[in-house]
Amino acid sequence: MKILFFFGTRPEAIKMAPLIHELKRDRHSFDVKICVSAQHREMLDQVLNFFGIKPDFDLNLMQPNQNLSQITEAVLRGVQEILVACKPDWLVVQGDTTTTFAGALAAFYQRVKVAHLEAGLRSFNKESPFPEEMNRVLTTHLSDLHLAPTDRARENLLRENIAEKNIFVVGNTSIDALFLCLDKLTGKTIRDFPALAGIDFSKRIITVTGHRRESFGKPFENICRALRRISESADVELVYPVHLNPNVRKPVFDMLQGRSNVHLIEPLDYAAFVWLMNQSHIILTDSGGVQEEAPSLGKPVLVMRDVTERVEGIAAGTAKLVGTETDKIIAETVKLLTDPQVYEAMAKAVNPYGDGEASRRICAIWQRHPR
Ligand code: UD1
Ligand code: UDP
Repeated sequence: MKILFFFGTRPEAIKMAPLIHELKRDRHSFDVKICVSAQHREMLDQVLNFFGIKPDFDLNLMQPNQNLSQITEAVLRGVQEILVACKPDWLVVQGDTTTTFAGALAAFYQRVKVAHLEAGLRSFNKESPFPEEMNRVLTTHLSDLHLAPTDRARENLLRENIAEKNIFVVGNTSIDALFLCLDKLTGKTIRDFPALAGIDFSKRIITVTGHRRESFGKPFENICRALRRISESADVELVYPVHLNPNVRKPVFDMLQGRSNVHLIEPLDYAAFVWLMNQSHIILTDSGGVQEEAPSLGKPVLVMRDVTERVEGIAAGTAKLVGTETDKIIAETVKLLTDPQVYEAMAKAVNPYGDGEASRRICAIWQRHPR
């Protein structure tokens, strides 16, 4: 069975990598090919290097400050050619990016079956996350096999009349990737991560990430204002690997540069980022992947968004939605810094998103029923 993986951004690569390695181990059953859109360039290459993945095809489509139509158009055109040349039985896409949606659409046009990894997440709000909620809804309806991370995701798919026989709850491969990475981190110290030099790890570390399109403009300024006030009033080290999107970098550098306890650093390679999360006291983020990983590490997550599709972490009590208003972000962070009971209640190592076995389950599905 010929399986073509198609992805383009950092989080897709992280979540595809364990499955690629798993399927490649069974050469008898699977002929694995990899195509990247390179919707991200540097941030994708960091992940490909870490996991030792060499794409067979590279659309290399990233443009500075690209817009959504540009990405969609370039993916549609690029993937069409690859599908014609490669003739896969399946195209595998992951998650909710524009690469994901446009790749699935191109496969549908070519009558190639689509397997959707991380299927069924829903915020039920078309505007948030934007454009991811619509990307994932549309991808669902273009897909033939739905690999859902949780029972809740499966229920969401059933409510949209997706046939039960095509849905498999497998866990999220993000946790497979996390466990693979944690294994490789055994025995590592700060000396192994030059990108983290200059951070005082004897202090409490607050790790921050943020990049959502619906937060560009005022919400992002509110977030930065909150971070600045937290850094001024608490004896903490604030570490922010800043996403390469210029719409993120401008407000972050304009508003946060120059404070000695605020470390604005370049995007970290996956191993360094996981190590940093593991050293952190609190994580402030709007990232989907980070919301999944942090609970496994027993780190409280404050989610700087109004809605989330990762509701399992909220239900488990390890993540809390704090929105994008300055005062609320400060109040919730201060609560975690000053109230040990509140902190302990959130710092539970639970794993609502997976057990590290998702890739093996998916591999077994295709081995049992070659489709
Ligand atoms: C994209 C995805 C989002 C995902 C996020 C993960 C879409 C519409 N958005 O958002 O769902 O959560 O990735 O990070 O699919 N850039 C670089 N180098 C890089 C990466 C980005 O320079 O390696 C800059 C470029 O100027 C690029 C811009 O960032 O044009 C925006 O990249 P894009 O992929 O469109 O949006 P993200 O915000 O990264
Ligand atoms: N990540 C990373 N380096 C960083 C920040 C994040 O490797 O500097 C990883 C993180 O561990 C997670 C993924 O990137 O697996 C999340 O990516 P991002 O926040 O860009 O996208 P999202 O998950 O929100 O789609």
